[in-house]
Amino acid sequence: MKKNIKIGIIGWGNMGSSLGLALQEEKKWQIYFYDKDKKKGRGVKYSHICKNAKELIEKVEVVILAIKPQDIRGFLQGNSEYFNEFKPLLITIAAGISTTFFQKYLKDARMIRVMPNLAIGVKQSVSFLCKGKFAKDSDLKMTKKIFSSVGEVFQVKESFLDKATSITGSGPGYIYYIMECVYKLALKLGFAKETAKRMVTSTFLGAAKLAKQSRKDFEVLVKEVASSGGTTEAALNVFKEKNIAEIIEEGVAAAYKKAKEIAGSYH
Ligand SMILES: NC(=O)c1ccc[n+]([C@@H]2O[C@H](COP(=O)([O-])OP(=O)(O)OC[C@H]3O[C@@H](n4cnc5c(N)ncnc54)[C@H](OP(=O)(O)O)[C@@H]3O)[C@@H](O)[C@H]2O)c1
Repeated sequence: MKKNIKIGIIGWGNMGSSLGLALQEEKKWQIYFYDKDKKKGRGVKYSHICKNAKELIEKVEVVILAIKPQDIRGFLQGNSEYFNEFKPLLITIAAGISTTFFQKYLKDARMIRVMPNLAIGVKQSVSFLCKGKFAKDSDLKMTKKIFSSVGEVFQVKESFLDKATSITGSGPGYIYYIMECVYKLALKLGFAKETAKRMVTSTFLGAAKLAKQSRKDFEVLVKEVASSGGTTEAALNVFKEKNIAEIIEEGVAAAYKKAKEIAGSYH
């Protein structure tokens, strides 16, 4: 029987725990994790908690680093020797930090950079990935296998990762914000809270499912809902007058600028 691959997650926060819990449902992985906050992950079943990063790096074949970008430098200063000694594959999901930056500390370590999103918890992530200088094709294959078990995977050049961060990494936050606006309007119209939340989530989910199944462009899909002289058209006319497209463009551009700023301070 093929043995389970040991995956270690460092940082059991929003992303690390969502990924770890989603992966442990699949029988093909054995999950290890370490968080400097000892309270995190207490009581988690079927995953192995490690007492420090060294223990984890020594035990596993793949390390997924899921700590905040601002914590990466300190982490590498304190732990790069263990990567050089035990040589696991390192996968980083930190926004904006290039493989070149990692490689300065990790010499010839095999690494892959991934930009997933929060929907990883429901196995609907959109993950973009690129190869570090010393990663092998088998490392790429392994990373694709891990992330395709929790959603869709696209391989791109590294320059596209910060762009993807502004669309798919931050994307769930944009969608939640719009959902919140529509939810508040439903409340204003008199719907009960529970009904309003279900109305909004089901409308977004239904629309997204239809769009995903369809080969039609978004523009065509919009026209299919907005019959001439109807209610949707009335709303869309207001959106166009107020130039909502421009506001969205500015917001996404600000996210991309921020990703590049983070990248600029770690090179
Ligand atoms: N959130 C998203 O939607 C999203 C999407 C794509 C990519 N990402 C990337 O995913 C990474 C994690 O984000 P997150 O939102 O999950 O952050 P988070 O909730 O703050 O989780 C990070 C965890 O790592 C712990 N930690 C910090 N330094 C550590 C160290 N040296 N060793 C072990 N644990 C350490 C933190 O503890 P303390 O809280 O005590 O510091 C925290 O529990 C970030 O690099 C981010 O750019 C996030």
